[in-house]
Amino acid sequence: MTIASPRSVRLTGWGRYAPAQALTNADLERMVDTNDEWIVSRTGIRERRVAAAHETSASMGAVAGLRAIRTAGIDVDDIDLIIVATLSPDYWMPSTASLVKEAIGNTRAAAFDLAAACSGFVYGYATASAYIAAGLATNVLVIGSELLTRFLDYSDRSTCILFGDGAGAVVLSASDEPTSPVGIELTTDPQGAYMIWLPAGGSKAPSSLETITRGQHKIRMEGKETYRFATRTLASTGLAAVGKAGWTQDDVDLIIPHQANIRIIEAVAKGLDLPMDRFFVNVDRYGNTSAASVPIALAEAVNSGRVKQGDKLVFIAFGAGFTSGAVALEWTADPARGLIGEAAVSPDDVTVRQPVDWDSVDPIPPALAEVLARPLPGHLDLSDVAPGEPEHAHPVR
Ligand code: UT7
Repeated sequence: MTIASPRSVRLTGWGRYAPAQALTNADLERMVDTNDEWIVSRTGIRERRVAAAHETSASMGAVAGLRAIRTAGIDVDDIDLIIVATLSPDYWMPSTASLVKEAIGNTRAAAFDLAAACSGFVYGYATASAYIAAGLATNVLVIGSELLTRFLDYSDRSTCILFGDGAGAVVLSASDEPTSPVGIELTTDPQGAYMIWLPAGGSKAPSSLETITRGQHKIRMEGKETYRFATRTLASTGLAAVGKAGWTQDDVDLIIPHQANIRIIEAVAKGLDLPMDRFFVNVDRYGNTSAASVPIALAEAVNSGRVKQGDKLVFIAFGAGFTSGAVALEWTADPARGLIGEAAVSPDDVTVRQPVDWDSVDPIPPALAEVLARPLPGHLDLSDVAPGEPEHAHPVR
């Protein structure tokens, strides 16, 4: 990596990928003691995507990342840093970012993973901005990719209904144009360290028959405490970023919040005294995709005509740690580029190399086998979506 002089930072590319199969509330009703009415009224979620056996965080992230690169209109080898924010990496090592680098055909980027749970994409955005501003990188690919359905306990109704799979990505590029106002705020509150966690598999409790018997390889969460933290922190983190950009909240055109729960988003809207139409919402179709949720929502917002050049956007996220983060930025790219980038990359074009002489176990949780075996739902792209429609985006691969 060569060191260039400091330059301003612009978001030039964006992309997303969601697995084709959907896990509906009706499916979950057959697995645990829950019902559609409870899930919709408490969370806003109607369905979430489930990765197929051949998919991983690296493969999904590579598709989203390549789409972001095509949207930016640069060559794959113009990327000199790849950051993958994920809490569900393919392996503990190597990093998912290194697998993505190979899968997209990049030969020159540095690559690393970033762990900040659901705030990971916003932390990654901040990190990429700092690399560019410091002259350490010119074009950075920031990916949020999660395959959470393989880390859920499908007998725990308080967690298994919430999470889904997918990936989103942006390209941040150095620019000679003047810097548009950017405000970034990141926080960490370790008091919440054990409110959302995955106890086993790390150095404190390496995976063993005993940890598996205890179910410690699955995500655990104190929902109420997490909810309290989210509603307390999201608005203040967002406001801090807005203030650093030199704006007030009334200046903001669109907020892209972490899609965890519609009630949390509504509480943030209330806290900021802003109407809900200033918030982009797609939690109904994806559930909580952790680090992938903000970049998936961003790509949908832009590709469906909700964002125009000059708009003031804010990304806000919170998650395990507890972490939270917000970025306030002015949109400068041509929104029409997104559909071009999306159409340019088929998931079938991207392959993550498998290890030689090594047989993986079947990765599909038994509870999801039936869902993944059924025919795929039909898919529409965003090109038939009327600009400005809030409940617009149709599922795409
Ligand atoms: O990215 C960060 C990830 N985490 C989050 O964002 C989670 C934040 N927390 C939440 O979104 C909410 O706390 C939940 C959606 C997880 C739960 O909603 P809640 O309104 O806080 O419900 P609760 O935990 O207070 O549970 C109320 C009742 C309980 O029954 P009892 O004790 O009152 O009889 C639960 O056992 O609802 C029950 N319950 C369910 N019932 C039907 C919990 N989960 C379910 C379920 N279906 N899936």
